[in-house]
Amino acid sequence: MNPPNKLEAIVLVGGRGTRLRPLTVTVPKPMLPTAGVPFLAHLFARARAAGVTRIVLATCYRSETFEESFGDGAGLGLELEYVREDEPLGTGGGIRNAASWLRSGPDEPVLVLNGDILSGHDLGAQLALHLSSDADVTLHLTEVPEPGRFGCVPTEPSGRVAAFLEKTQRPVTNRINAGCYIFRRSVLSEIPAGRAVSAERETFPALIERGARLMAYADDAYWLDVGTPSTFVRGSCDLVLGCLESPALPGRPGEALLLPGSSVAPDAVVCGGSAVGQGSVVGPGARVEGSVVFDDVEVGPGARVRGSALARGARVGDETVLDGAVVGEGSVIGPGNELRHGARVWPDVTLPAGAIRFSSDL
Ligand code: GDD
Ligand code: MG
Repeated sequence: MNPPNKLEAIVLVGGRGTRLRPLTVTVPKPMLPTAGVPFLAHLFARARAAGVTRIVLATCYRSETFEESFGDGAGLGLELEYVREDEPLGTGGGIRNAASWLRSGPDEPVLVLNGDILSGHDLGAQLALHLSSDADVTLHLTEVPEPGRFGCVPTEPSGRVAAFLEKTQRPVTNRINAGCYIFRRSVLSEIPAGRAVSAERETFPALIERGARLMAYADDAYWLDVGTPSTFVRGSCDLVLGCLESPALPGRPGEALLLPGSSVAPDAVVCGGSAVGQGSVVGPGARVEGSVVFDDVEVGPGARVRGSALARGARVGDETVLDGAVVGEGSVIGPGNELRHGARVWPDVTLPAGAIRFSSDL
């Protein structure tokens, strides 16, 4: 059996990140700057701390960006392999395709992770349960208020998984698939090769149907899928604030993370776990609260930015208000605009001064 300090992992990073557009028009979701580093750096650091030494990345959308950033992984204490799907193979197909690059033996445990999850759960405890219960697959489960948007996973009193209901309109429990599995390696070969397969809609139901031993590791640790603008912003802020510890955080937890080469006017306020990227400028009297500011962004004097994400090179004019907004790469929001409640500005758009206002009278 593999000792836990030699664990291999597959990380799924091939999705298009459509819910995070326009941020993902140019950058794949797992590479978005999150608390000062690409999102995946946090995931890698936690995996490394749990004993993972080799990771096979299942890439598809904008696949080249991953290797450009992480190389062979030596700088992270990891061995990284990149596997590219020409056409998206889905989660199950991506796992099957990446599995050919694994070196673990047939009975050894292999970790499989969704590439957009921030989790504080105890991977060592999940692995211990997997080994002690002689499971084929052990799934991490968490509880959420809206289970219909996830994979709903009812269990038996013994902890065995009873069913897997992906994005069902009638969830039978609030316990959902948290996107972190430990597979017995030989089970991965049961996934059909060479075609698109959904792990959630096809692989797990088929394994349950054939009587495979699927165990649940359920807990209430910190957990977040960063796949929407609001959860992406929250995840970055939580990391900056230290709500979830990350060995990859480039600094100490606190109200704000100001990356080297950023500048904040003496009377400006940056708080609520905001990160301000390299070369970005926050002007006099401006306030940036609970937001993610990528590199080379300008926040003009007196602007108010809250719960928002500003992509690389964005410019926010004087006295502009952004609340729950996303501004795409290189876009210019002229002075005096007011964007709220999920407003999304596509890359390279210029909004003239005072073009958009928000009225609460409607
Ligand atoms: N390689 C590859 N190929 N990866 C893919 C593909 C593909 O065709 N499609 C999606 N992925 C990756 C995404 O990049 C992401 O990291 C992961 O698979 C999950 O895809 P999402 O699109 O984020 O799925 P979801 O959030 O709607 O649902 C999944 O995660 C939930 C937990 O957050 C499911 O696994 C649910 O069951 C689960 O509850
Ligand atoms: Mg997701």
